Amino acid sequence: MDTIDKTYSCKAAAYEASEDVGRNGSTAPTIGDVINARLGRRDMLRGALAVGAVTAFMGPVLTAGTAKAQQTRYVFDEIEHGVDETHHVAPGYDAQVLLRWGDPILPGAPAFDPMNQTAAAQAQQFGYNNDYIGYVPLPAGSNSATHGLLCVNHEYTNEEVMLPGVAKQDDSYADMTEELVNIEMAAHGGSIVEVEMVDGAWTYKQDSAYNRRITAETPMRLSGPAAGHDLLKTAADPSGTEVLGTINNCAGGITPWGTYLMAEENFHGYFWGDMPENHANYEQFARYGVPGAWYAWGRFHDRFDVTKEPNEANRFGWVVEVDPLDPNSTPVKRTAMGRFKHEGAESIVNSDGRVVVYMGDDERFEYLYKFVTNGTFNADDPAANADLLDDGTLYVARFDETGVDWLPLVHGRNGLTEENGFSDQGDVLVRTRMAADLLGATPMDRPEDVEPSRATNNVYVMLTNNSRRQSDQVDFANPRAENLFGHILELVPPGGDHGAERYEWNILVQCGDPSVDEVGALWNPETTENGWFAAPDNCAVDSRGRLWISTDQGSGWARTGTADGIWGLETEGDLRGTGKMFFRVPLGAEMCGPVFTPDDTTLFVAVQH
Ligand code: FEO
Ligand code: CA
Ligand code: CA
Repeated sequence: MDTIDKTYSCKAAAYEASEDVGRNGSTAPTIGDVINARLGRRDMLRGALAVGAVTAFMGPVLTAGTAKAQQTRYVFDEIEHGVDETHHVAPGYDAQVLLRWGDPILPGAPAFDPMNQTAAAQAQQFGYNNDYIGYVPLPAGSNSATHGLLCVNHEYTNEEVMLPGVAKQDDSYADMTEELVNIEMAAHGGSIVEVEMVDGAWTYKQDSAYNRRITAETPMRLSGPAAGHDLLKTAADPSGTEVLGTINNCAGGITPWGTYLMAEENFHGYFWGDMPENHANYEQFARYGVPGAWYAWGRFHDRFDVTKEPNEANRFGWVVEVDPLDPNSTPVKRTAMGRFKHEGAESIVNSDGRVVVYMGDDERFEYLYKFVTNGTFNADDPAANADLLDDGTLYVARFDETGVDWLPLVHGRNGLTEENGFSDQGDVLVRTRMAADLLGATPMDRPEDVEPSRATNNVYVMLTNNSRRQSDQVDFANPRAENLFGHILELVPPGGDHGAERYEWNILVQCGDPSVDEVGALWNPETTENGWFAAPDNCAVDSRGRLWISTDQGSGWARTGTADGIWGLETEGDLRGTGKMFFRVPLGAEMCGPVFTPDDTTLFVAVQH
């Protein structure tokens, strides 16, 4: 059984450690990997050349002062790297705290009383450890930049910070009573909150009929090809279609029709108990790290104990769709989009009307995915899009030197057959990682956010780091061994067609300090000493196509000398690959959820922990 490494000081660091393990058994170097490793060195050069302007600027001729400098699209004065107890924003901008853990958000909710928390109160109050933020303008369908719904994910809880008198728990979780567990469960999930700008300041409306808390116990529906599958049936739900709650919601997305997608990431951590080796789920659970035993929920809720309920863990690891305009709607887990440690789910309407959702599986050596709907987006009738995400094709990425192939995870194709142990499409989806292993997908350096640009149709992939990649495991798209600082890939669909099964790709930047040779960083030399960053995690593309990156270094700040923050990153022209620091959080916090209002005048950010 996996356990949290107790040498880490907080649960956030434990997550970092867990992701550090990697559970993909298919990463042993093959002769192909060895060849890739050799070619990979050449590809680093190719990658550098592909960042054309960067290479040109790196030459001795075009240095600042001799080149006709292109105007930056990021028109703010850069702030400095640093480490302190407060936040910092570029001069001339205001930063305001809008919502805090415990703020009462449902009508009639009690005021926050941190010394007397209850599950009932928490279920009506803003949850813990915010990650994704989505903004849905109000009235619905408008472009309002001063009034809307914030959809915020609450990823996980830290008992030693959250609960008075409770220290960090060891494997026995001795202090975790039923009420404390229920408080944790109520602090998970998400919040939907109506916000409005009044007299130049943002405020939230506690009396809004839209406001909603989604928790680890909110009734939800399973839909799509795996719904009703034997693997999803439990003692409490013999239909395999009804499930309680969502957990470890990291990033997400707002669909073109205005629904809120909540990605279930490290779901394995919530289960404990022992899975017998002869159980049908044993191998699959090992591939996913179930049971992780990060919480004591299994003590009071049998469904989180794999010994008592061996299928409950199959009902997590999905993307959940929520209609934020209807607080009584039942959230739906869309199984067609696969089961893995979903980081996020950002989508785009393809030129042919189909909707394409990009998704990362955030663990070392895991994969990059996209989902392409069969149906097309109906802009005139939001209700017509209600089940678009139930029907389509899930693809996994396999990179080579010149491109990336999207391999369909479809039962009966590419060896995903009965003969190879996959009984049907539901089975392929429940065991997405194992299906992707069989197809030879490329193990990546922890894919976090993946976001398409509506301005260029290029797609940006945040690869946050992978300290475990060995020198004989580097490949074209993951070119650094011991990748402590991460990198960003740019995918280029042919003619902007997100339905295509082969794209081109480039490395946009290799993160870390460019002044230290051993780091192997790659930035435009116009990047200042504050403009580089490490551990890209979430990102946003604003209405003008500018890319903004937020970082999650964990304890890695000690290597970079700066707390996490938000950086602009040029993707076009001569300044391509130039970073510029805009915002910084207090030391120890993780920067999440950047999202702009439609007019780019407000940036909402989540200071996670
Ligand atoms: Fe929850 Fe992958 O960050
Ligand atoms: Ca993340
Ligand atoms: Ca993160």
